[in-house]
Amino acid sequence: MRTVASATPDFREIFKERYQMIVQAVDICKRFDATVALDHAKIELVPGQIHSIVGENGAGKSTLLKVIAAVHKPDSGKITIDGQHFAPLNFLDASKKGVTIVFQESSINPYLTIAENIFIGRHHEFSRPFLGLDWKRMNREAQDILASIESGIDIRQNIRSLDFGQWKLIEIARALSYNPKVLLFDESTAFLNNRESRVFLQAVRNLRNRQIAIGFVSHHMNEVFEVSDRITVMRDGKFIAEYDRNEATVEKIESAMVGRSIGSSIYPDHPTVKASDDVILSVKNLSVDNRVTDITFDLRRGEILGVGGLKGAGGEAILNAIYGSEKITAGQIYLSSSRYLAPTPSKSVLNRIALVPGERTVEGLIPEFSIHDNLNMTALPRRGLLRDKAKEKALTGAQIDSIGIKTVDAMHPVNSLSGGNMQKVVLGKCLSIHPDILLLNNPTRGIDIKARQDIYALLRELCSQGVSILLLTEDLLELLGMSDRILLLKKKRVSKIFEENRDLAEEDVIRFIV
Ligand SMILES: Nc1ncnc2c1ncn2[C@@H]1O[C@H](COP(=O)(O)OP(=O)(O)OP(=O)(O)O)[C@@H](O)[C@H]1O
Ligand SMILES: [Mg+2]
Repeated sequence: MRTVASATPDFREIFKERYQMIVQAVDICKRFDATVALDHAKIELVPGQIHSIVGENGAGKSTLLKVIAAVHKPDSGKITIDGQHFAPLNFLDASKKGVTIVFQESSINPYLTIAENIFIGRHHEFSRPFLGLDWKRMNREAQDILASIESGIDIRQNIRSLDFGQWKLIEIARALSYNPKVLLFDESTAFLNNRESRVFLQAVRNLRNRQIAIGFVSHHMNEVFEVSDRITVMRDGKFIAEYDRNEATVEKIESAMVGRSIGSSIYPDHPTVKASDDVILSVKNLSVDNRVTDITFDLRRGEILGVGGLKGAGGEAILNAIYGSEKITAGQIYLSSSRYLAPTPSKSVLNRIALVPGERTVEGLIPEFSIHDNLNMTALPRRGLLRDKAKEKALTGAQIDSIGIKTVDAMHPVNSLSGGNMQKVVLGKCLSIHPDILLLNNPTRGIDIKARQDIYALLRELCSQGVSILLLTEDLLELLGMSDRILLLKKKRVSKIFEENRDLAEEDVIRFIV
């Protein structure tokens, strides 16, 4: 597998004896109680190279990065840098020694300034004897780093007015503030839209030119192929294979990941019979403060209406307004043909409307509660006044099976799950109320390709049973692959409705959203 690409000789291979790998992690094992997260995993990271790690949800990618960055101590195994044993005391110590990570989950504190977030925990580095903190220098250095990655962010902006994509860029700036030799990115693009991902990937490629050794985790194969020099595949905590970019193909990688080929399309065929004409949800001239203006559309029984647009174009506000988590400032909503006045989340549950929110930990889950409790939180099966333990257990089992949540024990806290598996819990929680209307805000972020294929098939199956789905997604391929009809938003208004989705290409959509 580790053959050298034909034309240019690989001097690293030729001078292997003299060449020193910057980071070598070998034989790394890590358990969390009964869960084996890493089982003799390994990876090598080289200066000026981007090395991607791919694998299904729960394969151990994040854990491996966290072991290298000293967030977790491995149970066994060895990490060396330039041949020297690398054993930092903790994450901060590792960062100071030049190995740092941009986490999968957001680590931005919205109550601090942008500069404070970048230098979080290190404010003392800017203190002057008798004069307190040198805010000017801190702000200047923060601004310089943000400019160096062409983030377009001004440190005077209120951090709460920025979106997740911009928060991610601030986290990258934080990592860069350590002037790292080794930089690890864990699904940094999962919350970015197409344009932001472009900016981000370009920034990562520039880091390669600065001779930083980069570890990169993503579920998006197109990104992986775009940026990687090498690709490592993991499965069940184990190292499976390593490829040079030149010898890797999507088929090879996918079958190493899941043990089978995914096939040419992960999207189910469009149904041959047209969805019914029954209008189950009707939105008329809806406006939400200054988030979205004058939106009118119908959702029919058994269809998937895709909603596309850039972040901030208003899709999220539409979903939240219908669900009742954002206030409507003008317009009306009808369920079948009766008016749905002043929606609230609890009324929506009674009306069998479920929402998968945009950010799983802030809105979707209680991280310290068990997987079981999170799955039952909305449906709350009761026997009289008491919890119906038997029904709860059945519901948990059914959701874990149908969407493939990978866990050894449903009583474990939900924050012990891998990122993609947490997202599956959010979806399971929504499905637990047997919704008639499903409002999905980017539901497959961070979910691996095989699980996505299963979830897409499940959504289609729900439609055939009469469930109606409003699918907001920033993933154009998902929008085109899943929608029966497509509504596009530009500058907070409807810019186009495609009444059918046949032979549409990405360009047809992009024209109406940028
Ligand atoms: N803090 C923790 N406590 C208990 N179990 C954990 C913890 N962190 C990870 N695990 C478990 O270790 C395994 C590997 O998880 P990891 O987060 O490394 O997967 P991943 O490959 O990053 O998946 P994803 O693509 O979903 O992010 C999973 O089974 C997960 O549940
Ligand atoms: Mg992960």
